[in-house]
Amino acid sequence: MEWKKSNGRATTITIGNYKGGAGKTTNATLIGYSASNKDIKTCIIDLDPQSNATKELMLTKFANYPELEGTTINKTIMAGIEEGSLEDLPIEIKENLFLVPSFIDFEGFAKYLYKNTSSDKEEDFFLSQYFEPLKDKFDLIILDVPPMSIEITKNAVTSSDYVLISLQTQEYSLTGAESYVEELGKLTSKYSLNLDVVGILPVLMKNHGKVDEYILDSAKKSFGEENIFQTYIPQMERIKRFAVNGITNLDRHDKKVLAIYDNVTNELLERLEQFNIQ
Ligand SMILES: Nc1ncnc2c1ncn2[C@@H]1O[C@H](COP(=O)(O)OP(=O)(O)O)[C@@H](O)[C@H]1O
Ligand SMILES: [Mg+2]
Repeated sequence: MEWKKSNGRATTITIGNYKGGAGKTTNATLIGYSASNKDIKTCIIDLDPQSNATKELMLTKFANYPELEGTTINKTIMAGIEEGSLEDLPIEIKENLFLVPSFIDFEGFAKYLYKNTSSDKEEDFFLSQYFEPLKDKFDLIILDVPPMSIEITKNAVTSSDYVLISLQTQEYSLTGAESYVEELGKLTSKYSLNLDVVGILPVLMKNHGKVDEYILDSAKKSFGEENIFQTYIPQMERIKRFAVNGITNLDRHDKKVLAIYDNVTNELLERLEQFNIQ
């Protein structure tokens, strides 16, 4: 699919939900991977000190370039922030796919933020100055955020054009999505942000499950049916393996997962296109 970025700068998307285990990191890495296969130069920025995206993508890099196995990360996001720039951080994972890596020391971000800012607004827009230069270098930037960090959540959102809500079909993920969307509304009106929810992507807990159907119905009522992605992510064992082995494209189980994420990414691009036309 032909996809053009607006005004020559990266479209920035936060994958959001307040709850952990909602499929955020999985969606960030696999949508990023699929976009890169479509000739879209993509950077995933890991904003979670647990660094799950960093681990998965570094393993993906080694699976793609076995000769690089064992190479380490020079600089992680917290060090980049302290030094004043993230520009030399992106690590090439594969063609068109880059990673700004995180590490456990990013837990110190909130403290650093409060020490180095003097107003609400400075606090909430602190990271955007770091992301700006990266927006010239990529077509698509995907932000992977931790659960429950209000500081990182706000900073991700104020730097984003869109939020994609990751919704695992369980009650706590739905309430996490609802409170997340509520918070987005507050931030958008406080700062007159130009921010849209590009869609809510369901990740099924159980394929053809009763609870899953119930949660999906509730989500449709809560957010509007048109805001729910038509492509759902089924429960797939291979996705769990990607998290520990990296993303590969070798056997039919790999290809099945990648085919679904290819559909999701196509739908995402269509949705972005619709927003651009409006
Ligand atoms: N479609 C899926 N099928 C099977 N396991 C999944 C699927 N999506 C996510 N998972 C697994 O669920 C767990 C939580 O997902 P993750 O993406 O890490 O959520 P979050 O980033 O919101 O905490 C991980 O172990 C991940 O491998
Ligand atoms: Mg995560």
